[in-house]
Amino acid sequence: MFGIIGLGGVGMLLAHFLNNAGYVPYVVTRTRYSRYLIKFGGEHEIRVRLVDKLPSDVKYTLIAVKAYDTESIIDKVVNTPVVFQNGIGGVELIRERLGVGYGAVITYGVTRSEGTVEVRGVGEVILPSSVSEVADA
Ligand SMILES: NC(=O)c1ccc[n+]([C@@H]2O[C@H](COP(=O)([O-])OP(=O)(O)OC[C@H]3O[C@@H](n4cnc5c(N)ncnc54)[C@H](OP(=O)(O)O)[C@@H]3O)[C@@H](O)[C@H]2O)c1
Repeated sequence: MFGIIGLGGVGMLLAHFLNNAGYVPYVVTRTRYSRYLIKFGGEHEIRVRLVDKLPSDVKYTLIAVKAYDTESIIDKVVNTPVVFQNGIGGVELIRERLGVGYGAVITYGVTRSEGTVEVRGVGEVILPSSVSEVADA
């Protein structure tokens, strides 16, 4: 049901949350690593299905590339896009090009080195009510 584009710091955090909710998300990313780990109250393996193209039954595409990379992933979005960025203009670009797009606020602080992400600051993920299924997961 969930796809992620961009498996960097934020993408890995989102994948970890989805794993905890029982999902193994499909992921399209640029540089692939042999394994993905998160340091967050211990060290946990992140489970993802790395693919070149998200399957059509993905209901929500969670976008976790930097704002300046948004243009490069527009043709990879399947169904409803939800943009997790601090940069400016990403969600507006998605809405303009795809006709739909939701913005999420994420106030966690993470640092990434290759396939390992460390949570340095616990924050919140705030989503619009129209994508409550994403918020629930
Ligand atoms: N880091 C934080 O603490 C934090 C907190 C809140 C919000 N944010 C925001 O979240 C967004 C993502 O930040 P981040 O820290 O997660 O960045 P990041 O670690 O650089 O992750 C971005 C990921 O997107 C991938 N990517 C770039 N272009 C792509 C493409 N065309 N197709 C597929 N994957 C692509 C990158 O691949 P490569 O590995 O090849 O570069 C990388 O895996 C930013 O807007 C940032 O401001 C960050």
